[in-house]
Amino acid sequence: MPSVIVVGLQWGDEGKGKIVDVLSEKADVVARFQGGHNAGHTVVINNEKFILHVIPSGILYKGKKCLIGNGVVVDPASLVKEIEGLIRRNVQIDGSNLLLSKHAHVIMPYHIAIDQESEKLKGSKSIGTTGRGIGPTYCDKIGRTGIRISDLYQGELFRSKLKSNLLHINFLLENLYQSKGFNPDEIFEEYSGYAEKLREHVADTDIIINDAINSNKNVLLEGAQGTLLDIDHGTYPYVTSSNSTAGGACTGLGIGPTKITGVLGVIKAYTTRVGGGPFPTEIHDSLGELIREKGGEYGATTGRPRRCGWLDMVILRHSVRVNGLTGIAITKLDILDGLESLKICTSYKYNGRIYNEFPKEINIFNECEPVYEEIKGWKESTSGITDYKKLPERAREYIEKIQEMLGVEVQIISTGQRRDELIKIKEQF
Ligand code: GDP
Ligand code: IMO
Ligand code: MG
Repeated sequence: MPSVIVVGLQWGDEGKGKIVDVLSEKADVVARFQGGHNAGHTVVINNEKFILHVIPSGILYKGKKCLIGNGVVVDPASLVKEIEGLIRRNVQIDGSNLLLSKHAHVIMPYHIAIDQESEKLKGSKSIGTTGRGIGPTYCDKIGRTGIRISDLYQGELFRSKLKSNLLHINFLLENLYQSKGFNPDEIFEEYSGYAEKLREHVADTDIIINDAINSNKNVLLEGAQGTLLDIDHGTYPYVTSSNSTAGGACTGLGIGPTKITGVLGVIKAYTTRVGGGPFPTEIHDSLGELIREKGGEYGATTGRPRRCGWLDMVILRHSVRVNGLTGIAITKLDILDGLESLKICTSYKYNGRIYNEFPKEINIFNECEPVYEEIKGWKESTSGITDYKKLPERAREYIEKIQEMLGVEVQIISTGQRRDELIKIKEQF
């Protein structure tokens, strides 16, 4: 019953989509457990690029059951668009291979409005959200006023929930944000339409996934965002609103922790971040721009330029700990080809004190300076290499240093965007 969780160990965009796609070949079920269409997971097959937002990256392999779990927040308009877009590109999607939890919460247009208006009001203190309504939807979920996928099929009950929610939400939009409120009947009509389009996909995903685990199927659990964006374990408040760490896979799908057999953490060979918040190893000069251009570091969802920096062992040690990793996948090694030297942050310095662990006080974290170990880079290209022994010696030293510093085995190394540009050191299934 192998059930392997794939999580990001930095601030998202580590290359989870590529790794999940590759591992999907041997998986029977691939499931998303948290987040929403704030995620953008890129998969490149034969130079054709696909960006998945809520649909698991396993969908690009035929015959895989793909689940969107209860922990995910779903914008039905966006999901319908994503399904239709993939079908147009000849990806087979129907009620047999894409299943959506009845308990997933629905992102409503008023959540999107609140997300965007509250960011505007925060001004320079804004989080830099994707503006997709993620935070306000999880607010309603926790506040027990959320609307779940199953509610969309309950006719008047759905309408009355909308009416009751809009009582205070319209007050907020019109009075605090000086914006326009929403009409519950219009939302009812529009969303009932999406519900019809999604009907064949709606299912009890908790039962499906547990049945798969119990019948010894290979199950892959695809995390979105990254550990430092986790609502509890990230750089709060500059985080997303769900548990993007391994624990989220259990609650977000209804799987007991005893059923998880592996947790693979994905690390980009350097660090990136989109949006606001602390980032001690950020590179502010032309080298940061060079990495951004070479690595194509622009948001897969919003197109925003990603902030780029060196590898940070302080946050990675934290990520290893809170996820209980069994293995590591390192991506984008090829982007570091040709650099004279590389820096690895081993600790932080603040007010004359050395921090080996990430300070939990965000104001201190914000002011931390990185302490670096500098190592020599490699001149040769690693692009497309599939055999570990063929990597330049210094690239191997970099990988082995990461492994040694984190105490977790490096099991996969990615050397390009495409499926075949990969070094597999250990199989996950
Ligand atoms: P995700 O959100 O974690 O799935 O990552 P994104 O898709 O947002 O960003 C990762 C980007 O890096 C995508 O454009 C991938 O195609 C690309 N990528 C992944 N692995 C590699 C790699 O090893 N080398 C290169 N050059 N690009 C990669
Ligand atoms: P994937 O799955 C990178 C960031 C946003 C913002 C913060 C909160 O592709 O790695 P939100 O809209 O979630 O309320 O925004 O989280 N963020 C991501 N950054 N990759 C992602 O997803 C992200 N999803 C959200 O930029 O800083
Ligand atoms: Mg992404």
